[in-house]
Amino acid sequence: MAPLLRWLVILYLVGLSLQEDSKVEKSSGREFFIGFLKLSATQAQYITITSYNKPAVVNVTNKFDNTADEYTIASYESKTLIFATTMNIVASDLTSKIVHIVSDEDITVSSFYIFNSALASTLVLPSHLYDKDYVVAAYIPYYSIKLLIIAKYADTHLNISFPASIDYSGEYYSRSRNLSITLQSSQGFHLRAGRDISGAIIYSDKDVGVLTGNTCAYIPKGTDRCDSIQEFHLPITRLGKNYIISTFADRTAGDVYRVVGGHDNTTVSVKVTSQNYQLSRGDFVEFELNSGNSSYVTCDKPCLVTQFAKGSQADNTKSDPFMTFVPAIEQYSRDYNTFLPSALTNVRADRNYALITIQDKYKNGLMLNGVILQGITWRQILTNTVSETYVTASVPVTIGGIRITHNDSNALYGLIYYGWSQNLAGYGHLGGIRIVKVYPCKLLS
Ligand SMILES: *[C@@H]1O[C@H](CO)[C@@H](O)[C@H](O)[C@H]1NC(C)=O
Ligand SMILES: *[C@@H]1O[C@H](CO)[C@@H](O)[C@H](O)[C@H]1NC(C)=O
Ligand SMILES: *[C@@H]1O[C@H](CO)[C@@H](O)[C@H](O)[C@H]1NC(C)=O
Ligand SMILES: *[C@@H]1O[C@H](CO)[C@@H](O)[C@H](O)[C@H]1NC(C)=O
Ligand SMILES: *[C@@H]1O[C@H](CO)[C@@H](O)[C@H](O)[C@H]1NC(C)=O
Ligand SMILES: *[C@@H]1O[C@H](CO)[C@@H](O)[C@H](O)[C@H]1NC(C)=O
Repeated sequence: MAPLLRWLVILYLVGLSLQEDSKVEKSSGREFFIGFLKLSATQAQYITITSYNKPAVVNVTNKFDNTADEYTIASYESKTLIFATTMNIVASDLTSKIVHIVSDEDITVSSFYIFNSALASTLVLPSHLYDKDYVVAAYIPYYSIKLLIIAKYADTHLNISFPASIDYSGEYYSRSRNLSITLQSSQGFHLRAGRDISGAIIYSDKDVGVLTGNTCAYIPKGTDRCDSIQEFHLPITRLGKNYIISTFADRTAGDVYRVVGGHDNTTVSVKVTSQNYQLSRGDFVEFELNSGNSSYVTCDKPCLVTQFAKGSQADNTKSDPFMTFVPAIEQYSRDYNTFLPSALTNVRADRNYALITIQDKYKNGLMLNGVILQGITWRQILTNTVSETYVTASVPVTIGGIRITHNDSNALYGLIYYGWSQNLAGYGHLGGIRIVKVYPCKLLS
C-alpha cells in the first residue's frame, strides 16, 4: 500500500476501535419498572411516556392485577396513564404493586404524584441504568420516608445499611446490623421509615431500581408548609463528580442542598461555604445557596447532589418543597423530551420551568419545541475545576409536551424540570442524563 493510503486505513481502524470502546448511556430506554409510593394521601397516580423520532409500541404490564396493555405512540408524542389508588404502596413489606414497561423504541418515562395541595414527580430510570450499589437521599420525615427497591431479576439478595435505627417487622436495623431481603423478578421491597434514612446504603447482588420519597417534608425542618417529595435514584457507578448548582426561580429564601458520599474517603469541596468535607460512603453534608445565585460542588470521588425547594413560609411564595437530583457536568445531555400531564393544570401549577445549565458559548442555540429560545436572562458561573464559563436560567415551559434541543450537536447541558402551584405545592425532577463510558482502547495488531 502507498504510505498515505496505509495511514488512512490505520486512522479509519483507530476511529472504529474508539467507537467500539466508548458506550453512551442515556436515561431514555426500552425497559422500565415503577411503583407508586403513598405520599400525603392515597391518590390515583400518573405516568407519562414520551417517544423520540420513531413511533414506539409500548407494553405496560401491571404485576399486581396481571393486566397488560399495548399502546402505540407516534413519534414525538406522549401517552399519559393513570393508575388506580389500589396501586399505592402503603405497608412495609414485599410488594407486587409494580408496573413493567417494555418498548420497541427508546422512550422517556416520568411519574407524577398529583394531589390538591401536594405534588411530587420523578424521571423513571430505565433498567439499563440500574446497578447493585446505591446511596440514598431523602429528607427528615415529619410523617415518614418511603423507600422502594425493585428487582429486575429473580433471587436478588439485598443488604441495607441504615444510618439510624429503623424498625422493620418488629426488628431494628442500623449501621451495625444490615436488613437482608430477597426479591424475585419485578417484585418490590417497600419500607416506611420514621427517621431520616439519607445515607442508607443498598448492597445488592443483582441490578435493582431504587425510589425514595417523603410523605410531607418540612424543608428546612420547622419551616411551614410540608409537601411530598420523591426521586428515582442513580446507582453509585453512575454518579458524577462536578456539579454546577443554581437556585430555583420565584423564591427569595434560598434552596437547600445535600451531598451524599458514594465512596469512603471522598473530599467534597463546596464553594458556597468555602469548605472541604471528608465523607465516607453514606455520609452527607447539607448547606444552602441564596436565591438568585449559582455555584459549584466538586467531589474527588463520585457523589450524589440533591437540591430541595423550601416550604412556602420561608418567603411567603405560592410554592412548596420538592427534591431533585442535580445533574453532574459529566451527565449533561444533548436533548430532553418529556410530557407534563394536564392534571397539573387542574391543581393550578401555573409556574413551570426547565432549569438549564449550559456553557456560555452555546447558550444561543437552545430550542424549546423547535423554536430558538430568546430573551432569556442567564446567570454566569465560573468554576475553578472546569476551564469553561457556564450559565444557568429557569426557562418557563407550559404543561404538555416539552422538547428541548440544540442546533449544535456538540452542545451538552443539564436540565431539571420543576414547578409551583397556587395551591401551595411544588414538584421537580432530574430532566435526564447521558453518560459516556470510555473503555481503554484495544491495541490494533
Ligand atoms: C408487546 O406484547 C405483545 C403481545 O404480548 C408482543 O407480541 C410484543 O412483542 C410486545 N412488544 C414488546 C416491545 O415487548
Ligand atoms: C452489610 O452488608 C455489606 C455488604 O454485604 C457488608 O459489607 C457489611 O459489612 C454489612 N454490615 C454488617 C454490619 O454486617
Ligand atoms: C449480605 O450479607 C451477608 C451476610 O454478611 C453476606 O453473606 C452476603 O454476601 C451479603 N450480600 C450482599 C449482596 O452484599
Ligand atoms: C478512609 O476512610 C476510612 C473510614 O473513614 C478510614 O478508616 C481510612 O483511614 C481512610 N483511608 C485513607 C487512605 O484516608
Ligand atoms: C446572591 O446572594 C447574595 C446574598 O444573599 C445576594 O446579595 C445577591 O444579590 C445574590 N445574587 C444575585 C445575582 O441575586
Ligand atoms: C444556532 O442558533 C443561534 C441563534 O439563532 C445562531 O446564532 C447560531 O449560529 C446557530 N448555530 C448553528 C450551528 O446553526
